[in-house]
Amino acid sequence: MPGTTSSSSPRRILVTSALPYINGAIHLGHLLEHIQTDIWVRYQRMRGHQVIYVCADDTHGTATMLMAEERGMAPETLIETIRAEHARDFEGFLISHDNYYSTHSEENREISELIFTRLKDKGLIFTDEVSQLYDPERQLFLADRFVRGECPNCGAADQPGDNCDVCSATYDAMELKNPRSTLSGAAPEIRASEHYFFDLPQYQDFLRDWLASGAVQPEVANKLGEWLEAGLKPWDISRDAPYFGFLIPGTADKYFYVWMDAPIGYMASFRNYADRHNEVSFDEFWNAGAATEVHHFIGKDIINFHALFWPSVLDGAGFRTPTRIHTHGFITVDGTRMSKSRGTFINAATYLEYMEPEYLRYYYATKLTGTVDDMDINLDDFVQRVNSDLVGKVVNIASRCAGFINKQFDGLLAGHLDDEALWAGYQAAASTIADHYENDDVGKAVREITRLADLANQYIAEHAPWQLIKEEGQRDRVQAVCSMGLNLFRLLIVYLKPILPKMAAESEAFLNVDPLTWADLDTPLTGHRVNAFKPLFSRLERKTVDKLVDASRVPDASQAQSTPDPAGPAANRAAPEADGGFISIDDFAKVELKVAKIVAASPVDGADKLLELTLDLGDEQRRVFSGIKAAYEADALVGQLTVVVANLAPRKMRFGTSEGMVLAAGPGGADIFLIRPDSGAEPGMIVR
Ligand code: MSP
Ligand code: ZN
Repeated sequence: MPGTTSSSSPRRILVTSALPYINGAIHLGHLLEHIQTDIWVRYQRMRGHQVIYVCADDTHGTATMLMAEERGMAPETLIETIRAEHARDFEGFLISHDNYYSTHSEENREISELIFTRLKDKGLIFTDEVSQLYDPERQLFLADRFVRGECPNCGAADQPGDNCDVCSATYDAMELKNPRSTLSGAAPEIRASEHYFFDLPQYQDFLRDWLASGAVQPEVANKLGEWLEAGLKPWDISRDAPYFGFLIPGTADKYFYVWMDAPIGYMASFRNYADRHNEVSFDEFWNAGAATEVHHFIGKDIINFHALFWPSVLDGAGFRTPTRIHTHGFITVDGTRMSKSRGTFINAATYLEYMEPEYLRYYYATKLTGTVDDMDINLDDFVQRVNSDLVGKVVNIASRCAGFINKQFDGLLAGHLDDEALWAGYQAAASTIADHYENDDVGKAVREITRLADLANQYIAEHAPWQLIKEEGQRDRVQAVCSMGLNLFRLLIVYLKPILPKMAAESEAFLNVDPLTWADLDTPLTGHRVNAFKPLFSRLERKTVDKLVDASRVPDASQAQSTPDPAGPAANRAAPEADGGFISIDDFAKVELKVAKIVAASPVDGADKLLELTLDLGDEQRRVFSGIKAAYEADALVGQLTVVVANLAPRKMRFGTSEGMVLAAGPGGADIFLIRPDSGAEPGMIVR
């Protein structure tokens, strides 16, 4: 058989996607990466290779510590909650991780300490004094993003700590004029402390060779080559307490910088998996010189961490280096960066409320090129591709043929292939499609597959079984043609299965076959009985996409502040004492607004207007009496999110004490709370 399934001994492959930060929800950008990785992983599995696909949340750093503080939660509780959400989102998109772990794990602590100790023993670690901005109020060193001030170049006010939004100058945070800590508003001081460095310059020659070995795409190798030419600097791998992370061995107040232990999180997630699965061991994948493969999928913004620091650290600590680093570009939507105010910053969970995960998987597949070029999601094109290719071409083949086979022949396929040449043409495409999958050039694979689908549709149209069935003595021809159609459909499903695993599973159920693998390309289905056909996909309506965009739109916070809506909730408030009925911003700042989930709501005996609400504020529950009974059904409120004034003094009422006040606006009913359930808000979040 020409180039279909002939394969040498199975490869053993460990695959990773970059570890998403825990400080945000999974969105279209993360999905691009995980879908690209998953397609590659599923393709390799179909070829009979052994693949372990691991990921984790990236949990360490100052931001985690601050977020936990703000929500009054232990960091461990916070990160476990978010990890579970992330894992669930990826599962919703059919991402086949074997383990979705956390960088805050014992395995990671151990391996990080081991690596550090080995690097130190080899003379690859040294310490040096570093001066940095320090927040005297919060008593911590300020990362660039926690400082704002005047641009040292053009003088623009309120610029971030690393580069100016106005003149684009890049600078050191210590160069800002009149800097302010964004955490406390205090003027930062300059303070020196001791930092630990990895001596990257010792790896100059090693990295030059490694880049030439084909482990990265050519354009990535070029970029890195430029950095190598410019000369490498030692890498600062420590941060001072307070920090959320792992203590550096032998110190009491120095932590590993989050980017030091994050890639080690790949090893830790794998070890956690290997410890539970006898068929793999940590050593055979990570020992120096291992014959197994390690593949990392990443975005172009984190190339330096993966292709400079990571291979050097691994080699320095006596571990193997990655086999390949697959780098992708960034997502844009309708030509511009994802935007919250335009509704194009789309979260995984919101998407799944409106559409099939495989629509996005398919669309991304059509766009993947295996290069670092950015990728535009054009929403019209998205609808078009799904409808014309998936529904119009592929599914159409099955639905046109299945009816006849099911109704006229009791599901039985003909005993031979009607068009051997067409079949051979399908098989002959296997090696091309395989190469495209192997090289991440999935868009080309999809174009080849749609070309084949066109051939099948032509074949069916030419033989027109719907005509034949009306003609005398043509019953066998109808069976032969429709059986041929379904055989072609089956090969298309083999080719599409890495992209569309759910559709493939449903097709396998219809075809009444075991899970399809690449080896199934070799043999046709003849004299075989199939099951009843259920439609695989429905058309995607543009208005469904519009609804998703609407649901993703977050009104611009700064606008909402500067132009209060006169008809909005604020218009009804009783005028407080301040001038002209206005309160000052300082008065307003005293009000602590938090997101609350209504976990119970019931009428109050003897009170016409009141409902008794039990609110979940993330870390505590409160009872609040609210005069909203006329406007809301108690039952409809349960599960809704609202905003609560959390620091309102408790008020004794006839029925009990009310511990806060609920803010709600609208004509009544279930849709009028201030927070949409899909907004990503969670109980306990502070509202600003
Ligand atoms: N935590 C680090 C990675 C540590 S890996 C040891 C990180 N996290 S991230 O959440 O910001 O990004 C995770 C991955 O998603 C990265 O590979 C990043 O490039 C990718 N993407 C995030 N936004 C993206 C787009 N808008 N488009 C495409 N991919 C992008 O970086
Ligand atoms: Zn400037």
